Amino acid sequence: MKPPLLLFIFISVSLEALQVLVTGDNVGAYKPTDDITVDCGSNTSSTADGRIWIGDAVDRSNSSRIEKTPSSITARASNSSPGVPYYTARLSRSEFAYTFHVTPGPKFVRLYFFPSDYLNFHRADSFFSVEAAGYTLLQNFSAYLFANYTDSPSFFKEFCLTVGEHQILNVKFAPTPGNSDAYAFVNGIEVVSMPESLYYNTEVDLKEGINLAGQQQGLRSIGATDALEVMKRLNVGGQVVRPSLDTGMYRTWEADDRYVTSLEVGILPVNLTIQLNYSELVPNYTAPDSVYITARSMGNKKSINLSYNLTWSIEVDSDFYYVLRLHFCEFQIEINNPSDRIFKIFVDSQLVENRADVIEWRGKGMPVYRDYAVFMSNGQKKRSILSIALGALPDGYTLYSDAILNGLEIFKISNPDRNLAGLNPDPVPVNPPVPRPASKASSNLSEAAKIAIIAGGALGFTVLSVLAFFLYRRRNGAKDSASSDGTSWWGPASYAKTKSTKTQGSSLPSDLCRHFSLAEIRAATNDFDKVFIIGVGGFGNVYEGYVDGGATHVAIKRLNQGSQQGLHEFRTEIEMLSQLRHRHLVSLIGFCKDATEMILVYDYMARGTLRDHLYSTDNHPLPWKQRLEICRAAACGLDYLHTGVKHTIIHRDVKTTNILLNENWVAKVSDFGLSKVGPTSVSKTHVSTAVKGTFGYLDPEYYRRQQLTDKSDVYSFGVVLFEVLCARPAVSRMAPMEQISLAKWAQSCCKSGAVEKIVDPHLKGAIAPECLIKFCEIAVSCLQDEGAKRPSMNDVVSGLKFALQLQVSAEREVTVHVGVSVHDSDDGDNDAAPIRGNGSDEVSSACDSDGWAAATTTRNNDFCDKSRTSYD
Ligand SMILES: *[C@@H]1O[C@H](CO)[C@@H](O)[C@H](O)[C@H]1NC(C)=O
Ligand SMILES: *[C@@H]1O[C@H](CO)[C@@H](O)[C@H](O)[C@H]1NC(C)=O
Ligand SMILES: *[C@@H]1O[C@H](CO)[C@@H](O)[C@H](O)[C@H]1NC(C)=O
Ligand SMILES: *[C@@H]1O[C@H](CO)[C@@H](O)[C@H](O)[C@H]1NC(C)=O
Ligand SMILES: *[C@@H]1O[C@H](CO)[C@@H](O)[C@H](O)[C@H]1NC(C)=O
Ligand SMILES: *[C@@H]1O[C@H](CO)[C@@H](O)[C@H](O)[C@H]1NC(C)=O
Ligand SMILES: *[C@@H]1O[C@H](CO)[C@@H](O)[C@H](O)[C@H]1NC(C)=O
Ligand SMILES: *[C@@H]1O[C@H](CO)[C@@H](O)[C@H](O)[C@H]1NC(C)=O
Ligand SMILES: *[C@@H]1O[C@H](CO)[C@@H](O)[C@H](O)[C@H]1NC(C)=O
Repeated sequence: MKPPLLLFIFISVSLEALQVLVTGDNVGAYKPTDDITVDCGSNTSSTADGRIWIGDAVDRSNSSRIEKTPSSITARASNSSPGVPYYTARLSRSEFAYTFHVTPGPKFVRLYFFPSDYLNFHRADSFFSVEAAGYTLLQNFSAYLFANYTDSPSFFKEFCLTVGEHQILNVKFAPTPGNSDAYAFVNGIEVVSMPESLYYNTEVDLKEGINLAGQQQGLRSIGATDALEVMKRLNVGGQVVRPSLDTGMYRTWEADDRYVTSLEVGILPVNLTIQLNYSELVPNYTAPDSVYITARSMGNKKSINLSYNLTWSIEVDSDFYYVLRLHFCEFQIEINNPSDRIFKIFVDSQLVENRADVIEWRGKGMPVYRDYAVFMSNGQKKRSILSIALGALPDGYTLYSDAILNGLEIFKISNPDRNLAGLNPDPVPVNPPVPRPASKASSNLSEAAKIAIIAGGALGFTVLSVLAFFLYRRRNGAKDSASSDGTSWWGPASYAKTKSTKTQGSSLPSDLCRHFSLAEIRAATNDFDKVFIIGVGGFGNVYEGYVDGGATHVAIKRLNQGSQQGLHEFRTEIEMLSQLRHRHLVSLIGFCKDATEMILVYDYMARGTLRDHLYSTDNHPLPWKQRLEICRAAACGLDYLHTGVKHTIIHRDVKTTNILLNENWVAKVSDFGLSKVGPTSVSKTHVSTAVKGTFGYLDPEYYRRQQLTDKSDVYSFGVVLFEVLCARPAVSRMAPMEQISLAKWAQSCCKSGAVEKIVDPHLKGAIAPECLIKFCEIAVSCLQDEGAKRPSMNDVVSGLKFALQLQVSAEREVTVHVGVSVHDSDDGDNDAAPIRGNGSDEVSSACDSDGWAAATTTRNNDFCDKSRTSYD
């Protein structure tokens, strides 16, 4: 018997951890000799993230280390830009250059671009090359096409190159010849020294060599004649590390969530107390502490580790060599000796390490990295998908069948002709079939992406990789994505086979709900026409359609092919939903299953998610009473899950995007893909399970103890209540530290009596004070740290109903007599969005006992009205 590896803290869900990470970093472990930041085209110097950006349009004498040729002009971006150094640019239709007088040695050169219209320079016309120190960094580069392809309005490109003795660093911008409209531009330039042996001639590589994937012999170490382009730098299992929190070189470390493409995403262990022991081999500037004290490992389901490879996939330019640096550090309490955790490493599906043993390499708490090289080609295609996969070894070879990764860097190596430039991506088609939720965020997708990345939780990851998958498909043409060329990054093709054999036959409850043929579904969606896409979920696309000859309006959830996790959730959802019938749960109408497709068919919810309405910028914000009613209804749905059926069902992913609204604004809880059936015997009060859910809504007790109870849903619902009150997301990444977590911020505002300041401005003056007090009291009680102290959903329903009564009474200016059941017939509000579409939606029906409970339920669901007495 192996000892269980029990203690996991989940960094992606711990804000305290974030704080510690920030203060505990080895910031400033390295002091660069050259540290130059230029805000191109700017009249003034400005400070951003603690650094001074020198305006290069200022008097030249003050920036003597920067020289530029006079053939260029300066301009401000025509649309609002993302901040320094993107406000201004230097542009020219002829060649221009910057000269930096720097010390010899390896340098980072970072070029910042914001492709906007500048004066008479149109964004789509920029095509130029950039050369520096004898290397071609970019060629015929279109910042516009790049931004369009990556969906990031502004971006920087990062290079590493070596400046020789007595060499001056010239950075030359030249418009593509033969095109009179072409011009070159740049918004910012950064030149920063790096340690002599950080990426070049490193101790580790000199000692170990660099394995070249698919070849027997190691590649030589990276030499001074190689220039590099940084393709990706990830803090695996952790948060974004901003430039100012790097070890002195101002590198940015992204979170890795969106690049995890295996069906399982593993778990995120962290150790905030370990004293990292750096060494000459791996000095303290190699990466920030926060990279080494967080990681991703395979997961604590015993059977699962051997069944998959933990995989990251990164898109790169074809026909270049790449070096991958994998950072490791063992910090978990159980892993102490060699062979405790040994695993395999694959790069581009080729074995590069068959016994990765981090403890043996360095020892506990001692950071270490390994570099691997690979040549990427992909037929005629401009881009390739580079995958890094970790696979567990079976019992007998290792104590824990598991794998770990803490950080990942990917560099492109210059070709022998000293060229690093790839080809421009093709323009993304006009009117691309962007699914609705994504298009909303497209104005500032990078912000949205950041928030989504933080959104931790298995589901969050799935959604992102699914989204990435669709973008990838879209850009490569749907046919390419079948990966006929063997560079599949969406899991081995054989999954499709296992999947279909596994699910065929009697395992699907076709007796419980309607079975649709694929032909019917195709007809309903015009063969999955993109214009019918109404959302993208953990499963894949959701389409709108009609069945029964147009009589029934439905939402059709089409599971991505090859998603095994999805298959499990597909079954769970059918099994759960087909047995549940409740007015405040989304109804499953039926499903469709054939050799290649798994599809769920639901009632169409015409008004989308609650979240959409909270943050909508149209002129019809949801009125307060309607929000209360929506909360009450959703609470009823959850209460039914908890107490209305034989075995408690824990939703596990309660959030505002899982509360849907029909055409009459009746709220229904959706998405049971993560649901768990609760304990069946009275002696057990919880189920142990891997933590899933969505960051910001996750019960802290649940991720501490990994014990799921119905009170975890109550916690998440508390967050929903505050989100409804404040119309701000559960996590605001860009907010000041104390305001990042809505749950914490709102609670502290309630405690200090300052709740008014966080109320949605649209609701100013609309909430009766006594209603607000009651509402906050409910929300705060839901967020109690100890699950046992939280109310039941049934209590929450009663509380919300009472709050609604207080509001209604205050609006009528009559004194509330507690215990009098107020039947709301208020028709005084002329809301654009009425609460009731018909009589049956009355506010007073605290929970509907009117025949929605299906035959499979074991008790009458009148539970919501019962506890009203508690306020009598
Ligand atoms: C990093 O290591 C160097 C040399 O070992 C030491 O002088 C320096 O204080 C360390 N810096 C930090 C921030 O730990
Ligand atoms: C140039 O530098 C000097 C001294 O550092 C300062 O007094 C002066 O204001 C600067 N001039 C400009 C145009 O920034
Ligand atoms: C720089 O300053 C001058 C005068 O203060 C102004 O006319 C010009 O527009 C400014 N240039 C930019 C790019 O802001
Ligand atoms: C760090 O590692 C070295 C070499 O293994 C060891 O001698 C030293 O005691 C360690 N230091 C700490 C603080 O653990
Ligand atoms: C962190 O590492 C230290 C030192 O190895 C160990 O004592 C401690 O238990 C670890 N904590 C966790 C949460 O793994
Ligand atoms: C992990 O990846 C390697 C290389 O692609 C493959 O040979 C192996 O079968 C994979 N293992 C699992 C469990 O999928
Ligand atoms: C899988 O890995 C987890 C740790 O991530 C460990 O607890 C578990 O024992 C491993 N499974 C097996 C079969 O070793
Ligand atoms: C420059 O790139 C554009 C867009 O990719 C392409 O159409 C054009 O042919 C390229 N020009 C040259 C000279 O390579
Ligand atoms: C990308 O380019 C296409 C075609 O030019 C355009 O329709 C689309 O709006 C662009 N997308 C972004 C995010 O700029």
